[in-house]
Amino acid sequence: MHRRLIAPGALASASLLLAIPASAASHSPGAPGIGDPYYPAYGNGGYDVSHYDLRLKYRPATDELEGTATLLVRATQDLSRFNLDFLLDVGEVRVDGAKASFAASGEHELEITPRTPLAKGTSFSVVVRYRGVPSSKRAYGFTSWHRTPDGGVAANEPEAAAWWFPGNDHPLDKATYDVSVQVPDGTQAISNGTLQSTDSRLGWTRYHWRSDKPQATYLATLAIGRFDVTRGTTESGIPVLNAYSKDLGEHYGAARASLERSGEIADWLSGFFGPYPYDALGGYVPNTDTGYALETQTRPFYSPRNFANGSNTSLVVHELAHQWYGDLVSVAGWKDIWINEGFARYAQWLWSEHEGEGTAQELADHVYASHPADDPFWTVPPGDPGPENQFHTAVYDRGALALQALRNEIGDEAFFAVLEGWPRAYAHGNASVADFRRYAERVSGKPLAALFDTWLFQPSKPAAPAARAASV
Ligand code: ARG
Ligand code: ZN
Repeated sequence: MHRRLIAPGALASASLLLAIPASAASHSPGAPGIGDPYYPAYGNGGYDVSHYDLRLKYRPATDELEGTATLLVRATQDLSRFNLDFLLDVGEVRVDGAKASFAASGEHELEITPRTPLAKGTSFSVVVRYRGVPSSKRAYGFTSWHRTPDGGVAANEPEAAAWWFPGNDHPLDKATYDVSVQVPDGTQAISNGTLQSTDSRLGWTRYHWRSDKPQATYLATLAIGRFDVTRGTTESGIPVLNAYSKDLGEHYGAARASLERSGEIADWLSGFFGPYPYDALGGYVPNTDTGYALETQTRPFYSPRNFANGSNTSLVVHELAHQWYGDLVSVAGWKDIWINEGFARYAQWLWSEHEGEGTAQELADHVYASHPADDPFWTVPPGDPGPENQFHTAVYDRGALALQALRNEIGDEAFFAVLEGWPRAYAHGNASVADFRRYAERVSGKPLAALFDTWLFQPSKPAAPAARAASV
C-alpha cells in the first residue's frame, strides 16, 4: 500500500485526509478512458486485463444473453475504483470474491468500487453477473449486435465488445479468452480460436471456445445461429474451421467457395508476412445484412452480401492479411488505422497479381489516375484520417498506394523484408504509423519522412505518381 507524503505546508488538507481511511486517501479512480484522442471514452485507465472467461447462455427467440464474466486483472496504479466498458444490465460485481458497488455512467461505462482499494502491481479478479437484450442497447446512436432470424452476432469496429461482455475496450489491452456459450440444441455458438468441447444436456448445448494468444476486444466475436460447420487443415498444418449460416440462400455457394480457400490463402500470405500467428483459422458467414466484413481474430466475420457477385477470395485475403496486420500487431491508437487497412488492401493487390488479374503497380496506377486532384478522396490523409473517416476508402486505396510508393523508393528486397519483419518485430503488441516509418527506415537504411508525409499526411494529391519499380 502506498502512503501519500504530506508536505509541511499542506497541513490543512492533511487534516482533512485524516478523516478518511489512509488506504483510500492514497488511491485514486482509474481514468474512464485509456487516452485515445479519437475516442476519449474507449478503454479505461489504471489496470490491464490478462484473461476473460465468459460463461454465457443465449436465447435466440428473445435475444436474451445472460451469464458471468470473470476477468483476471492487474492494477497499474493504486486504484480506489475503476471502470469497465459495458452496455448490458449488471446484477452483481465481485472483486477478489467480495461484493463491490457499481454504477452505470456515460455512454457505456460501468464504474466499480471495490470494498478495499487495490494497490498498484497486484493481481485481482472481477466477476460480473449480467443479462440483457443486446440488440436493444444503443451507444453512439447504433447497435453492434446484429439480430438474425436464428440468433445474433457481435461484430463491428471499433465498437463491438460492450454489447456482449464487460472489458477494457481498446486494442492497447489484449488478453486471452475462454468463451463458453449455452444455446438451444440444434443451434451453434461460433467464436474465436479453437472449439475445445461441446456438451449437450437438458435441451441446451454448450460450446467452449478458447483463444490462447492475446486478442484485442474488438476482435473477439460471438455468433449464434444455425450453421453448417466444415473442418480441414492447411498444408502447413493449421486446423481450419469455417461456419456458414444454413440460411444464406443464393449466397451460400459463393460464400463457401471463398472461405474454403482460407487455408490456401493463409499459407500464401505467410510467404510474405511470416508464419501464420495462431493455432486456429477459418471464417464464418451469419445471415446478417451488415455488408462489411471484419478480421475477428482467427475467424473473420463475413456478410452474405460480400458474396453477391460470386466468390470473393480477394476479401478473404484482406481479412486474413489482418491476422498479421491488425490482429498480431494492433494499432497503438485508432488514428493508426492505416497500419491495418493499408496493408490488408495491399495484400489484395499482391493476390490480384498472383491470380493474373493485374499487378500491384497497375492497381496503384489505377487508383492514382482514377481520382482527379479535386476529388475529396485526396483530402483524407490515411496516416491520421480522423474518427469520422477511419474507414474512408482513402485509408484503404491511398493507403495501399503509399505502400507502392514505399516499395518503389526502397526497392523490392528491402520492401518485402519490411513486410515480413514487421509482424515479428511487434508481435502481440501495438504500434503506430510513426513506428512503422522508423522500422522501414531502419531496414532500408533510407530516410523516409518526406515520402510518408507526401503519401500519408498531406490533404492533397501528390504531384507525381509513385515512381515505377526499376524491375517493372
Ligand atoms: N476492418 C474492417 C475491414 O476492412 C472494416 C470494418 C468497418 N466497420 C464498419 N462498421 N463498417 O475488413
Ligand atoms: Zn480491413
